[in-house]
Amino acid sequence: MGFLHTWLLFTMVRAADPPCKLWGPPDSPQLRRDGDVTIGGIFSFHNSWEEMIPTFTSRPERPKCKSLSLREFQNAQTMVFAIEEINNRSDILPGVRLGYKIYDSCGSIEMALRASLSLVNEENASQLSCQRPITVQAVIAETSSTPTIAISATVGPLHIPVISHFATCACLSDRKKHPSFFRTIPSDYYQSRALANLVKYFGWTWVGALCSDNDYGNNGMNTFIKAATEFGVCVEFSEAFFRTDPKEEIQRIVNIVKSASSKVIVAFVSYSDMEVLLGELAQQNITGLQWIGSESWISDMNIATGKWQHILRGSMGFAIPKAEIRGLEEFLTKLSPSSGVALYKELWETVFECKIPSQETALSGNICKGNESLINVQNQYTDVTELQIANNVYKAVYAVAHTLNRTMNCSKWDLNQGSANKCLEKINNTWQVLNALKEVSFFTETGEKVYFDENGDPATRYDLLNWQQGKDGTTKFIKVGFYDVSLPPDLQLSFKNISIVWAQNEHKVPVSVCSDSCPSGTRKAVQKGRPVCCYDCIPCADGEISNETDSVTCLKCPPTFWSNKWRDTCVLKLAEFLSFEDVMGIVLVAFSLLGVSFTLGIAVVFFIHKDTPIVKANNSELSFLLLFSLTLCFLCSLTFIGRPTEWSCMLHHTAFGITFVLCISCVLGKTLVVLMAFKATLPGSNVMKWFGPLQQRLSVITFTSLQVIICVLWLTISPPFPYMNMNLYQERIILECNVGSAFGFWAVLGYIGLLALLCFILAFLARKLPDNFNEAKFITFSMLIFCAVWITFIPAYVSSPGKFTVAVEIFAILASSFGLLFCIFAPKCYIILLKPEQNTKKHMMGK
Ligand SMILES: *[C@@H]1O[C@H](CO)[C@@H](O)[C@H](O)[C@H]1NC(C)=O
Ligand SMILES: *[C@@H]1O[C@H](CO)[C@@H](O)[C@H](O)[C@H]1NC(C)=O
Ligand SMILES: *[C@@H]1O[C@H](CO)[C@@H](O)[C@H](O)[C@H]1NC(C)=O
Ligand SMILES: *[C@@H]1O[C@H](CO)[C@@H](O)[C@H](O)[C@H]1NC(C)=O
Ligand SMILES: *[C@@H]1O[C@H](CO)[C@@H](O)[C@H](O)[C@H]1NC(C)=O
Ligand SMILES: *[C@@H]1O[C@H](CO)[C@@H](O)[C@H](O)[C@H]1NC(C)=O
Ligand SMILES: *[C@@H]1O[C@H](CO)[C@@H](O)[C@H](O)[C@H]1NC(C)=O
Ligand SMILES: *[C@@H]1O[C@H](CO)[C@@H](O)[C@H](O)[C@H]1NC(C)=O
Ligand SMILES: *[C@@H]1O[C@H](CO)[C@@H](O)[C@H](O)[C@H]1NC(C)=O
Repeated sequence: MGFLHTWLLFTMVRAADPPCKLWGPPDSPQLRRDGDVTIGGIFSFHNSWEEMIPTFTSRPERPKCKSLSLREFQNAQTMVFAIEEINNRSDILPGVRLGYKIYDSCGSIEMALRASLSLVNEENASQLSCQRPITVQAVIAETSSTPTIAISATVGPLHIPVISHFATCACLSDRKKHPSFFRTIPSDYYQSRALANLVKYFGWTWVGALCSDNDYGNNGMNTFIKAATEFGVCVEFSEAFFRTDPKEEIQRIVNIVKSASSKVIVAFVSYSDMEVLLGELAQQNITGLQWIGSESWISDMNIATGKWQHILRGSMGFAIPKAEIRGLEEFLTKLSPSSGVALYKELWETVFECKIPSQETALSGNICKGNESLINVQNQYTDVTELQIANNVYKAVYAVAHTLNRTMNCSKWDLNQGSANKCLEKINNTWQVLNALKEVSFFTETGEKVYFDENGDPATRYDLLNWQQGKDGTTKFIKVGFYDVSLPPDLQLSFKNISIVWAQNEHKVPVSVCSDSCPSGTRKAVQKGRPVCCYDCIPCADGEISNETDSVTCLKCPPTFWSNKWRDTCVLKLAEFLSFEDVMGIVLVAFSLLGVSFTLGIAVVFFIHKDTPIVKANNSELSFLLLFSLTLCFLCSLTFIGRPTEWSCMLHHTAFGITFVLCISCVLGKTLVVLMAFKATLPGSNVMKWFGPLQQRLSVITFTSLQVIICVLWLTISPPFPYMNMNLYQERIILECNVGSAFGFWAVLGYIGLLALLCFILAFLARKLPDNFNEAKFITFSMLIFCAVWITFIPAYVSSPGKFTVAVEIFAILASSFGLLFCIFAPKCYIILLKPEQNTKKHMMGK
C-alpha cells in the first residue's frame, strides 16, 4: 500500500511539466528591493482577510486582506529602514547590496505558510526547474507565535534562519523542533517566571489566571503556574479564551473573575484578546482588581488610554525596554504613495481617509488632495516614542547583516578585484549564515548588546511598568523596576525608588491570600482537599513554640525550657522546691519553732524542778539530753526548706539521721533504765550496778557514733547532691536532693527504724511493770506514734515526688518529735506544774 502510494505520487509529480506548474507561480511580495543578498520578511500587515470559497473551475485567487495594521506597517518599514541604513554604511558589508522581499501574512497561518514558500522559491525559476537560487539568506518573521511556528517548520529544514521580533512562545526555544529559529524578543519562559517572582514578591499567594487560548497564552500560563507553584503561590482559577470565542464564553470567564476571592488577576493575554475581555469587564462594572499583565497588553497604548482605562488602573507587568532609533521618524514620514507600491497607497488612504485616483477605478467619494503629509500625523505608524518591537526588527536585520559581514570577511583585496562577487562567492549555502548567526555578537548604536544563546534567545531584560494616572487623567506607563535574567536569582527583580500606585489609586499593596497568615504561637495546617495556600492556624502543643508568623511546624523547647502561655517563646521551666516564702514552708517553720520553744520550755521547767522526786526519778541526765536532741530534731527540719544546694543536701539527711538516733538512743536508755530498775527491785539482783549513769552515757554515745560512721561513709563514698528532676512533670523542674547512694540513705533510715523498733519492744515488755510512775507506758505510746508516722511516710515519700514529699518528710519529723515530746514529758509537766502534791517521794513510793 505504502509503496503504491509513493509510486503514484512520484508519477504524478513527474507528469507535471515543469513541476512548479503544479503550484503555480509564487506570490509576489508586498515590498521588495533587489540586491546581491536578499532578506525575507513576513509581517501581518492586515488583521484579517476575506474568506474565498474556491470553485475549482479556475485557479483560486489570493485572498483579499482587510484592515491595515499601522503597528505592523511600522515594523515592516523599520526593516526597510535598517536595510537601507546598512547599504549606506561602508563599514559593514561594503560592496554588497542588501535586498528585501516582504510578504503579508494577514494574521493567518495559511497565508504565512504561503508567504514562506514563496520566499524560498524564485519567481523566475519556473522555466526549468524548482531549484532554489540562494538569494534569501534569512527570514524576519513573524509577530505571532503560532504562524512563526509554521514558518520555522517550513523553512527550517532548508537551513534558512528565521528571526522573530515578537514571537515569544517558550516552545520556540526547543532546538530539536526549531533548529534554525532565533529571536530578538525574550522567551515567555522568562516573562512567566518574572511574573511569578513579582506575585511572590508582594506576597500574593492566591491569584486568578487568564490566558489567551493560543500558543502564546497557553505556554506562558503553563510556565507561570509551574513557577508560581514552585514559589508557593496558589492559582485559584485558570481560564483560557480567544477573541473569536462566543460572547457567552467571555461572559462565563468574567463571571468567574467576579465571583472569585482572589484580588490579583494575572492575565497572560495578547492585546487583541484583552480588548475583548475589557469590553465585558466594563459591561459588568468589575473594578478594584489588581491586574498583572503580560508584555503584549501591558505596554499597549490603545488599551491604556482607551475609554475603559479605569478598570485596569494600577496594572503592573513586564515590558521590553524602549529604545531609540535615530532617523527612523524621518524615514517613516517621508513615505509617499506616488512610488506606486500598493501598500503605501493603502496606508495613505487609511490614514487620510481618502481615495487616490487611479486609471482603472472610477473615482467616487473623498479624493485625496495630494498635499497631505505624514509629518504632523499622530498614529501608531508615526509614533516613535514607544519603539520596542520595531527595535527588535531593527536588531534582527542587523544581526543578519553582521553575520553576513563576518561570513564574507570582505577585505580590500576582494573588493579591488572589480566587483563584490569575490565576497559573494563565499556564501554558497544558507547553513553558513545559520551557523554564523549562532555566534554573532555586537552592539547597536544605542549600546545594546545583541547575541543569541544556544536556544536562539536574546539577553533577557524587562522593564517593570506600572499604570499610573497622569495629571491630565490619562494612563501613563511608569517604569518602577526591572527584571534581568543575567543577574543572580535574588537580584533579578529590582525596584526603583518610585512609589507604585495600585488598583483604585491605592498606595497600599493589595492583599490577595486564601487564608490570613498564622500568628506566632500557631502553625499552618492545610485544609483537606484545598490548595496549600488555604490553611487553618493550629495552636502549638504544650512545650512547643513558633516564634514566626506562618510557621509550618512548631519547634520543641530545649529540655530546661517550656512554652509560655502564648506559645511564642520558650521560658525557663518553673523550678519547684519548698521555699521559706511558701505558705507551707512558713507553716512548717512555725511548727518547728513552736516545737523548739516547747522543748526549751519543758527544759526550763525541768531545770527549775530538778530536785523534785519526779525529775530525779526519771533520770534527769537522760531527760535533758533527750530534750536537747529533740531541739535538734525540730531544728533539723529547717534544713529541708529552701533551694537545695550541695551543702544543704548533705546536711539535711545526715543531721536528720544523727539527731534522730541521738533522740531514740536516749529513749532507749530510759527504757533500759526502767527495765533495769524493776529488775533491781527484785531481791538478790544487783543489775543497777551494770547500768548506771556511765553505762547510760556510753550506750547513747555508742548508738549515736554508729550512725555518725554510717553518715561519714555515705558522705565520702557517694554523697547526696542537688538534682533537677525533669522526668516527672513536663512544665516544671523539681529541684530535689538525690540521695547519691540509695544504700546509704536506707542504711541511715533503717538504723533509726531498728533502734525505734528495739525501743518499742523493750518498752512494750516493760509497760506492765508495777511502778507508780512507769515511764515505759509513755515510751511505748510515743514509739507507737513514731513508728506509725514513719511507716505512713514511706508510701507518701515514694508516690508523690516534688515539694510535697519534702513537706511530708518535715511533717513526719515534726510529728514524731512532737509525739516524743508530749508522750514522754507532758505527763510529768502536768504533775510538776498542776499536781505538785503528787510530786513527793511518798507519793512516788505509794504503791
Ligand atoms: C541612504 O543614503 C541615501 C543617499 O545618500 C539617502 O537618501 C537615504 O536617506 C539614506 N538612508 C538611510 C536609511 O540612511
Ligand atoms: C524574471 O523574468 C522576467 C522575464 O521573463 C525578467 O524580466 C525578470 O527580470 C526576471 N526576474 C528575475 C528576478 O530574474
Ligand atoms: C461601578 O461600580 C462603582 C463602585 O464599584 C460605582 O461607583 C459605579 O457607579 C458603578 N458604575 C456603573 C456604571 O454601574
Ligand atoms: C491642501 O490643500 C487644500 C486646498 O487645495 C487645503 O484646503 C488644505 O488645507 C491643504 N492641506 C494641507 C495639509 O496643507
Ligand atoms: C578574514 O580574512 C583575513 C584575510 O583576508 C584572514 O586573515 C582572517 O582570518 C579572516 N577572518 C575570518 C573570521 O575568517
Ligand atoms: C565587516 O567585516 C570587515 C572585514 O572582515 C571588518 O573589517 C569590519 O569591521 C566588519 N564590520 C563590522 C561592523 O563588524
Ligand atoms: C562556493 O562556490 C564556489 C564556486 O561555485 C567555490 O569556488 C567555493 O569554494 C564555494 N565556497 C564554499 C564555502 O563552499
Ligand atoms: C527614596 O526616595 C525618598 C524620597 O522620594 C528618599 O527619602 C529616600 O531616601 C530614597 N531612598 C533611596 C534608597 O534612594
Ligand atoms: C525564633 O527562634 C529561633 C530558635 O529559637 C531563633 O533562632 C530565631 O532567631 C527566632 N526568631 C525570631 C524572629 O525571634
